[in-house]
Amino acid sequence: MNAPAPRPASWPVPTLNAREGALWIEDLPLAEIAARFGTPTYVYSKAALEAAFGAWQQALAGRRALVCYAVKANSNLGILSVFARLGAGFDIVSGGELARVLAAGGRADKVVFSGVGKTRAEMRQALEAGIRCFNVESAAELEHLNAVAGELDQRAPIALRVNPDVDPKTHPYISTGLKGNKFGVAFADALALYRRAAALPNLRISGVACHIGSQLLDPAPMAEAAQKLRDLVDRLAAEGIVLEHIDLGGGLGIRYRDETPPAVADYLAPLLAVFDGRSEELCFEPGRSLVGNAGLLLTRIEYLKPGETKNFAIVDAAMNDLARPALYDAWHEVVEVNPHAGAAVEYDIVGPICESGDFLARARTLAVTEGDLLAILSAGAYGMTMSSNYNTRPRAAEVIVDGDQAHAVRQRETVAELFAAERTLP
Ligand code: LLP
Repeated sequence: MNAPAPRPASWPVPTLNAREGALWIEDLPLAEIAARFGTPTYVYSKAALEAAFGAWQQALAGRRALVCYAVKANSNLGILSVFARLGAGFDIVSGGELARVLAAGGRADKVVFSGVGKTRAEMRQALEAGIRCFNVESAAELEHLNAVAGELDQRAPIALRVNPDVDPKTHPYISTGLKGNKFGVAFADALALYRRAAALPNLRISGVACHIGSQLLDPAPMAEAAQKLRDLVDRLAAEGIVLEHIDLGGGLGIRYRDETPPAVADYLAPLLAVFDGRSEELCFEPGRSLVGNAGLLLTRIEYLKPGETKNFAIVDAAMNDLARPALYDAWHEVVEVNPHAGAAVEYDIVGPICESGDFLARARTLAVTEGDLLAILSAGAYGMTMSSNYNTRPRAAEVIVDGDQAHAVRQRETVAELFAAERTLP
């Protein structure tokens, strides 16, 4: 009997392909990657990373613009090095992320620093490195930054992250631009805060920033936010506060299941129209749209466990590796890596962790046996970066595929590494 080929064709991960009855990424069979590096392993496609970045560059061609990859989406040095070589800037939210960017060959003068809780030590680190801009999120942060910059005898470049109060129409946990959440400063307070910043001796006003949410599928809210920002920039200019750049944040969504996100160019078109004929540099902070569909999580089935009401496929990846399903009830496509004949049965794909919330996917119809490999798709963004060592599970290995080559960009952790910094009591 002929083995079925992997279900073809509209996988959200663009460089996945079916060859010789098996699933490949670029020019490598996923089974070969599992044999070489073990499972669970995050697998990324260099071609898919480059294509995603290329789409942003193309959509912004001819504009004064900088794409600052949001490091939080995937901070592996290998990934960062790919983007650094393509000329990307970086959006960071911690001193740790800054250190990673520099270690991967990123340029400090293309780094913007977001986040509501920057410490003085992080401010100092970023000033010493010479970053492009601090996206300041509160009145108190302005004062801290002014003080720290003064100690270093520097002027810190700043943008205020304003909260344009538009509804991004996305998951409540990842919408950030509405009144009543902790991000940014209220739009109504922005003018007064800019005046205050202009009066502080160790700050240099560079721009304005916003970020309204993540996994956005509709360009309209961003265009609305862009108009509000443009109006603010004009009001500031009338007071003699002239901005050099406008940072529109990240947020463009991707397809996990049947979403239909706009192409980058279509997402940007209405927003760019708002700034036609203007001279400010535009800055963007995309994360998910650059890496989400360039990666998958490769896992092996340890056990099949039929139940009275449900069947479980227990795999060697778990919620500590990919938290999104447990945390957001997020849907990730699951594909058999080496499909074979057999009855297709509905399974919940679960990990070995002692929590009922430890599932990676629910109610998926698969023809599988013990030992089979599964690919959990669209896991390149907020996968590895949100992983943990819960249950003393070493974190997954990470591999970047480039054509028929696989580069180990993170070795699998060992158990000894997990408690190397711990001590028993004397
Ligand atoms: N800029 C700022 C200030 C942000 O807060 C974020 C994401 C980004 C840029 C990048 O947004 P993106 O282009 O990736 O949508 N863990 C959640 C997503 C949290 C996003 C947080 N901020 C998830 O797994 O869906």
